Amino acid sequence: MQSSSTQIIPTSGSVPTHLAIVMDGNGRWATKRHLPRTAGHLRGVQSVRRIIEACAELGVSYLTLFAFSSENWRRPADEVSMLMRLFMKSLRKEMKNLSERGVCLRVVGELTAFNAELQELIAEAEAHTAGNKVLTLTIAANYGGRWDILQATRRMLAAHPELSAQPDLINEASLAPYLAMAYAPEPDLFIRTGGEQRISNFLIWQMAYTELYFTDTYWPDFDSAALEQAFEWYKGRERRFGRTSAQLKQA
Ligand code: IPE
Ligand code: IPE
Ligand code: MG
Repeated sequence: MQSSSTQIIPTSGSVPTHLAIVMDGNGRWATKRHLPRTAGHLRGVQSVRRIIEACAELGVSYLTLFAFSSENWRRPADEVSMLMRLFMKSLRKEMKNLSERGVCLRVVGELTAFNAELQELIAEAEAHTAGNKVLTLTIAANYGGRWDILQATRRMLAAHPELSAQPDLINEASLAPYLAMAYAPEPDLFIRTGGEQRISNFLIWQMAYTELYFTDTYWPDFDSAALEQAFEWYKGRERRFGRTSAQLKQA
């Protein structure tokens, strides 16, 4: 029986086509310096800018950044509202720069939870950068992998009510178009900064076969050299997708 867990087996290269990052460690970066956690988030924005530029230069086609998880609402209210303000400020400030660099911005997640102003700003930034081809930058905001699978299931069944009566007809290919990142190939490389080794409900469906890289470096300290180090590690992986090493060498 043939049942593949990846949409398409990607050709391996030294630079990932799709890089997904959990930007973690802002709070600890600040605490270590006796600064408020918010200072870490502010610094984190500089890393975002640096990494977008480096990815565009190195030839990454899709960069996906986890900015706010569906679980992050559990943080103190003042930190949550600071993060929202920072998101809005950064969108306003960076829109032109992103566009000039050929970056197409997409935001995925349950966006209806955000205030109307932020939702409008997101729509505006997406429209402003649509059609840019150098790099597709996806910001995952109020995103959760489980939410994604559920929203995709709901939308699939709404579009194809006949499937409710014939659930056997549902396969991976029928669900995939409804996932939030259906426009992108699955991530080749996942990076998590900040020392934790977990996925934290990020792209759980899409990362079934992604190479996982963890570094202790806090996100505000993550620079292009650190990125290139991760790519160096990635280059050494043998992506087998279920096959044997010998089979790969033959092909
Ligand atoms: C990641 O840094 C940023 C967000 C989750 C928004 P953290 O704020 O989680 O930093 P640590 O893990 O507390 O150091
Ligand atoms: C994950 O970071 C989400 C983002 C980076 C936005 P957290 O720091 O919130 O993750 P957990 O909850 O500690 O796993
Ligand atoms: Mg954290």
